[in-house]
Amino acid sequence: MENQTVEAAVMPRIGDPAPVFKAVTTQGEINFPEDYKGSWVILFSHPADFTPVCTSEFMTFATLESQFNKANCKLIGLSIDGLYSHIAWLRTIKEKIEYKGMKDVEVKFPLIEDITMNVAKKYGMLQPGESSTKAVRAVFVIDPKGVIRTIIYYPLSLGRNFAELYRVVVALQTADAFSIATPADWQPGDDVIVPTAGSCGVAKERMDGKTDMTCHDWFFCTKKLDKEKVLSTILKK
Ligand code: BEZ
Repeated sequence: MENQTVEAAVMPRIGDPAPVFKAVTTQGEINFPEDYKGSWVILFSHPADFTPVCTSEFMTFATLESQFNKANCKLIGLSIDGLYSHIAWLRTIKEKIEYKGMKDVEVKFPLIEDITMNVAKKYGMLQPGESSTKAVRAVFVIDPKGVIRTIIYYPLSLGRNFAELYRVVVALQTADAFSIATPADWQPGDDVIVPTAGSCGVAKERMDGKTDMTCHDWFFCTKKLDKEKVLSTILKK
């Protein structure tokens, strides 16, 4: 039987240090994650310039950029197109495209040219079952220490939900700041989950109603966390 060489895809994992790279972008060269220490980052890939789903995503993300920046989160895009394609596409978006009330949209965050696929390979953005010539819609949320905290992959046909990506950034920061976890569909102002009781005594205390928590069972207790407290911790003045 003929020998086959299958190149193993590198798939970074949650909790791993973000793979290091230098890249050319529409905003000049970047040295990642070094240049972004101290900020949260959403590093995301899109399949190709001059395509409709990607255009809708870039217009939406660019429109929301200041909201992400206020949460100390910077955006970086990537596709395996070249720099001049990126520049031409972003000019077209600004000059010609109107979509869902958005127009004259300037994409100010860097868009990486990755024609060599160096970055896409390091981040597992190429998934041949979906496409052998385009990156999938990958999203990496990276913390101020350069650690990957969330990874989400979408197929080519599915545009991302940017309200959800913002919720992810806020929820991660809230979990870090208040040492809690966030339940399903959590939004700032909703109750949060306190760490599970680590002893029989604490479990009993909680179930006896001797705390300010609401306990659905000994291992599942929530408490109030004021929306203003969350937002004032997370959002830059
Ligand atoms: C799009 O962005 O519209 C798209 C890109 C690649 C494949 C399919 C759709």
